Amino acid sequence: MDIEKLKHYYHQAFIKSVESSSNLICSESLLEWATTNRSLWWKNAPMIAIELGCGPYSIFEKLALPEQSLAFGVDFCDAMIEYGCQRNSGKVEYQCLDVFDLETHRHFEKIDFDLIVDGHLFHCLTDQQMREKYLSFVAEKLKGKKGYFILECMVETDDLVFADDFLFLDDTRILLQQIGKEAVPVRYIPKAAQVLEEVERSGLKIAKFLCPSGWKIISDGRRQTAIDGDPGVARLLLSP
Ligand SMILES: C[S@@+](CC[C@H](N)C(=O)[O-])C[C@H]1O[C@@H](n2cnc3c(N)ncnc32)[C@H](O)[C@@H]1O
Repeated sequence: MDIEKLKHYYHQAFIKSVESSSNLICSESLLEWATTNRSLWWKNAPMIAIELGCGPYSIFEKLALPEQSLAFGVDFCDAMIEYGCQRNSGKVEYQCLDVFDLETHRHFEKIDFDLIVDGHLFHCLTDQQMREKYLSFVAEKLKGKKGYFILECMVETDDLVFADDFLFLDDTRILLQQIGKEAVPVRYIPKAAQVLEEVERSGLKIAKFLCPSGWKIISDGRRQTAIDGDPGVARLLLSP
């Protein structure tokens, strides 16, 4: 998938969300999962934290960190980052970057993190090699400071049902959306066991795993509420 087309896809989604809401915030569910696990990842010293795929409002606007900590929010959509910089509190340093460029970025390549939060980006990585690269990068960046990775992602828990302009490929677990003449791979929706396998292969260890029964993530950005056929949620707390 051409990266520019993917950026365009997220840009369009952002424009729609700005049109439908004057006050964009982070995922309440992700914030709750991060808060629940605070006693494990919290350090009594300034921390360096980053949210990958932070969108226009990073979780670190709401998630408290020890005093003098540094919080970064990274997303490759320039409009979201501009919104984050202009509208938010100054607590978070927003950077417009592709997460796959972090490894060689002049600033970030030297930084080890205490906490990395996946801003619901993992389930947007529809290429298996990219997911492997992503998880290995996270593991590497947490090793030095024995940090934690907070991840919440889509999984198939019950029968999946999608609108007519979606196509779910059962073998690769990829959801395609028809946009104009193109079928764009938009989400990775594995079974929970497949996520656990991918995570373990990357060298990350599972400190906590939950797949709460009946919980749903909206798979179609045109809806505001979840329906029975939507994917379920896997919640993980990982360490290197
Ligand atoms: C499902 S959205 C979640 C946004 C926000 N964190 C939330 O929870 O509402 C995934 C975000 O990841 C960003 N994204 C996708 N691929 C990316 C990449 N390779 N590098 C940086 N950001 C990426 C998208 O622009 C989008 O903002």
